[in-house]
Amino acid sequence: MTKLRALIVGGTSGIGHGIALALAGRGNVEITIAGRSKERGESIVQELSGVSSEHQHKFVAVDGFDLNSVKKLVEPNNSPDILVMTQGMATLQGYTPTKDGIDQKLQLHYFSRFYLFRLLAPHMKPNSRILTVLSGGVHGRYNNYSSDFELREGYSAVNAADAAGYYTDAGFEALSKEYPELVVAHAAPGFVNTRWGSEFPTLLRTMIVRPMMRLIGRDFKECGNTLVSALMGLPRGYSVVDPKGKVVENGLKHKTEDQSIILEKTLALLPDL
Ligand SMILES: NC(=O)c1ccc[n+]([C@@H]2O[C@H](COP(=O)([O-])OP(=O)(O)OC[C@H]3O[C@@H](n4cnc5c(N)ncnc54)[C@H](OP(=O)(O)O)[C@@H]3O)[C@@H](O)[C@H]2O)c1
Repeated sequence: MTKLRALIVGGTSGIGHGIALALAGRGNVEITIAGRSKERGESIVQELSGVSSEHQHKFVAVDGFDLNSVKKLVEPNNSPDILVMTQGMATLQGYTPTKDGIDQKLQLHYFSRFYLFRLLAPHMKPNSRILTVLSGGVHGRYNNYSSDFELREGYSAVNAADAAGYYTDAGFEALSKEYPELVVAHAAPGFVNTRWGSEFPTLLRTMIVRPMMRLIGRDFKECGNTLVSALMGLPRGYSVVDPKGKVVENGLKHKTEDQSIILEKTLALLPDL
């Protein structure tokens, strides 16, 4: 079997961790886990080595709040065959800019992912795979993309979630057309028992989020297996994938004119390649 390289940004926890284990279980995938927590990252690397010891799995530090740090993930002569992006956060905060001047949630969920896709795509071989795990097929349409693209005026948790999902479909589909030899997917994972919400206030986290996750959340390994099976079976081009790993037919909500505005505004906010 040909050896494949996978880069999993957000692999230090939750769904990214589950995806890493599912990829390691395939036997031919060497995995780089990327995130901020060296401690969790290195412990997951050890776990992966127990699953497929013949590969040099490793951890690299990255901060999605810093696009320069994201850029450092690119090694032109050592590009991944599989890029997975699950970096995320859940808070009740309002508009909070990063040092790049983009709202933190939007940057983690969309801009850092779009930027890495754009940086890596020219170096990826045909049939390489890119998966972003967020809200494929389940987010709403963010109507103010033209007048308040960065959510500086009308920030709310719902708007931030809808905008990130909506921009992902528009932006990733546009990049996928630019690189038609790649397989690109935007998945919704369903409700999964992970560290999601660890930044919520203590009462909300311990009385509501954690008990709900334990009670009705999916197992992160089962979610990882489902998403990896789906990803490895998809055709080239852009797909929206549901929590069961099925392609959502007509899953896109944007029109061609929305897409070109969203793409133009995205590129204007990001640094040059
Ligand atoms: N769990 C669910 O039910 C659910 C439902 C719908 C959508 N989602 C989405 O699925 C994705 C993964 O969520 P999850 O449940 O796996 O959450 P999680 O367990 O909290 O994992 C989030 C990951 O994001 C990384 N991350 C956070 N801030 C970062 C930063 N500044 N730079 C780099 N990495 C950062 C974390 O690593 P470090 O802390 O090491 O940086 C961690 O690996 C998120 O986008 C989430 O919104 C989850």
